[in-house]
Amino acid sequence: MTDHKNMRKKTLKLRSSTWFSGKDKMGFVHRSWLRNQGHPDHMFDGRPVIGICNTWSELTPCNGHLRDFADIVKKGVYEAGGFPLEFPVMSLGETIMKPTTMLWRNLVSMDVEETIRGNPLDGVVLLTGCDKTTPSTLMGAASVDLPTIVVPGGPMLNGKWKGNNVGSGTLVWQLSEEIKKKSISVEDLNQAEICSSRSAGHCMTMGTASSMATMVEALGLTLPGASAIPAVDSRKKVLAHLSGNRIVEMVKEDIKMSKILTREAFENSIMINAAVGGSTNHVIHLLAVARRVGVELDLMDFDDLGSKMPLLLNLMPSGDYLMEDYFYAGGLPVIIKEMDDQLHSNALTVNGKSIGDNCESAICYNNKVISKYEKPFQETAGIVVLQGNLCSDGAVIKPSAASEKLMQHKGKAVVFESIEEYHRLIDDPMLEIDENSVMVLKNVGPVAYPGMAEVGNMDLPKKLIKKGITDMLRISDGRMSGTAYGTVVLHISPEAAIGGTLGLVENGDIIELDVPKKRLHLHVSDQDLNSRRKTYVSQATKKTRGYVRMYVEHVEQAHLGCDFDYLKGSSGQEVSRDSH
Ligand code: FES
Repeated sequence: MTDHKNMRKKTLKLRSSTWFSGKDKMGFVHRSWLRNQGHPDHMFDGRPVIGICNTWSELTPCNGHLRDFADIVKKGVYEAGGFPLEFPVMSLGETIMKPTTMLWRNLVSMDVEETIRGNPLDGVVLLTGCDKTTPSTLMGAASVDLPTIVVPGGPMLNGKWKGNNVGSGTLVWQLSEEIKKKSISVEDLNQAEICSSRSAGHCMTMGTASSMATMVEALGLTLPGASAIPAVDSRKKVLAHLSGNRIVEMVKEDIKMSKILTREAFENSIMINAAVGGSTNHVIHLLAVARRVGVELDLMDFDDLGSKMPLLLNLMPSGDYLMEDYFYAGGLPVIIKEMDDQLHSNALTVNGKSIGDNCESAICYNNKVISKYEKPFQETAGIVVLQGNLCSDGAVIKPSAASEKLMQHKGKAVVFESIEEYHRLIDDPMLEIDENSVMVLKNVGPVAYPGMAEVGNMDLPKKLIKKGITDMLRISDGRMSGTAYGTVVLHISPEAAIGGTLGLVENGDIIELDVPKKRLHLHVSDQDLNSRRKTYVSQATKKTRGYVRMYVEHVEQAHLGCDFDYLKGSSGQEVSRDSH
């Protein structure tokens, strides 16, 4: 045995040695069956075993390239002296799964957590992409707390239609209005559909997937610059290879997730999400991750730290450009360098250096895409947390994607008791609604839907779109796609179905939004609300069996991150008793 190997055995106490080092019956069992895949003897010599958690699936188009990426990561792991073992987990395809991928985010997190803990792994690489595939795997891995690195799958190349850039998701919302106005043809729509998804990768707007990739880089869980690299750029493959190298070193240096996921890292993520015009879904997912690692974080932190942040990135849906342009402009390291005075620059990242050190030499190559901190695209961009009698546990709005003129607005409620009722009534010519009305959608929250669907950005009524109306105040207990825009109040907590005041709103009630004062108020007296409450019938989903039953019985409200009440905290990496 070489000195190098002797040294490794002396200094490392690997979790995997519990499985592989024994010269007894169980050592035989653990090694022998794995050998049927052709692993040579030296793979069991005490080297770090790296799990590659793959969210690849043909049913998750945004992650369709990750099957190949796992092989690239493996090359990096082998090269650094590790033993890579890939494992699949349930994958969540945002555009395909019904009723909403959010219903299974917690299930995937449990899949990831238990798979890591139950197996001989010393470190983990998470291959992620589409919206929920990032927070779900992160939550699961955080609950075990091994050294972990994330390889975000990367955005698609810019959509190109009729010579213009078109952004995935954002284009859909725009075309939906054009079709209602009859200003485009069905053939146009077909061409737009073909042109907007040109390559492997996830949505190339600053939607939820890009926001989640930004989140993991901001938290320090990726190598520098990882989030903006397009999926098909050769540098994404280099990133995957280097991440395979690095995770082996992280195991040797014992850089567990909890060393990186500090309160400072979460604060950085909040500020950075604001500066890039990130998704409102960031709030829910970041809260859930924080609760897994025991970092105190609450909804008001997003307002305190994010709401005054300027917008430094000019990307759809808040701006004009797309992720590919952002990568060429320098990517997230430029933003981090610009925010040096605001961020916790000394926060640790997976490469063992601070986030500030990683980004100090970043250069901006296009200031139409990334602005200087002193000359932002908007003065304030972050998510604002609203309070009031309609949302006693809070609600959120994303001002950078909303209309300035609706930031202070008072109007009559037009109530939809469910998404089905909305679809049935919205284009009824007899519906009493005008541009000053407030569209109220109930029963799309975590318990009611179930899963808190992305339906909060309701399309406007056809008759108002034809009049040239482009935005109205909309409120709900649901979420909206990160690619969407409009003056949309989301995540009202508590949701209607569990007794929130939202459930008591009636047609014609006056609702007032005041974003500068951070207030959402229903102008109905407490006395009247109390009498309405006596006759209120909840529309909470009732299921007698299966995962959905577990979900509706245990999911927490939006202001807590929509995790299961029993998943708060972590169960650690302890190796359990033997199976045979
Ligand atoms: Fe997968 Fe947008 S649908 S990232």
